[in-house]
Amino acid sequence: MSTLKYRTDLAGPLMLVLSLGLVSCASPPDSGFSTAPSQGPGLGRVASASLLQRMDRSIMSNGEGLPAGSGTVAQGEKVYAAKCLSCHGDKGQGRPADPLVGGIGSLKTERPIRTVGSYWPYASTLFDYTRRAMPANAPMSLSDDETYALSAYILYLNGIIAEKEIMNANTLAQVSMPNRAGFIDYSAR
Ligand code: HEC
Repeated sequence: MSTLKYRTDLAGPLMLVLSLGLVSCASPPDSGFSTAPSQGPGLGRVASASLLQRMDRSIMSNGEGLPAGSGTVAQGEKVYAAKCLSCHGDKGQGRPADPLVGGIGSLKTERPIRTVGSYWPYASTLFDYTRRAMPANAPMSLSDDETYALSAYILYLNGIIAEKEIMNANTLAQVSMPNRAGFIDYSAR
């Protein structure tokens, strides 16, 4: 019986708290908060036109969208040493980050090794991804020529192009990747 009495005693104050809550929701005190919804929570910043331009430049698998410029294996080796080696290791062997080289022919084995060379179906993706996302500590900082040169170097390390080949919008789009047939091309159906 004492439990019932206890609850009855609480009912009054509880209802008061609830109704106060409702009242304060209906008309909030003037804290400046009411202007927030129209302006957002004040997080982030508006993307500038130049940032949008740098991000909005996807390259299609057939090479559509590849920019002017070019790069050689030798140039790529230099850029790689300065901007990639610390994370991807000597000659793209990996560590601490992903290996970029090797594993070709390993995909059907019990220990598949997925790299640009063994797995990626299009060389144009290498250009797009590298220019957009790498180096991981300074994405979108590479020039188009640097990106062509890095693509050439990584493709060369994988044995996909010859040392003297120059990568540009034409040649890169024509590179035939070892795992090209490992994907189903739904657009061709
Ligand atoms: C600070 C470390 C760091 C640096 C420097 C760096 N990378 Fe990376 N890279 C990474 C990490 C981490 C990943 C994996 C990212 C993920 O899976 O989301 C990666 C992934 C990649 C991949 C995709 C590999 C795959 O098979 O999925 C490529 C290609 C690549 N990096 C190229 C480069 C090139 C070229 C440079 C030099 C311009 C570079 N990276 C510099 C850390 C780095």
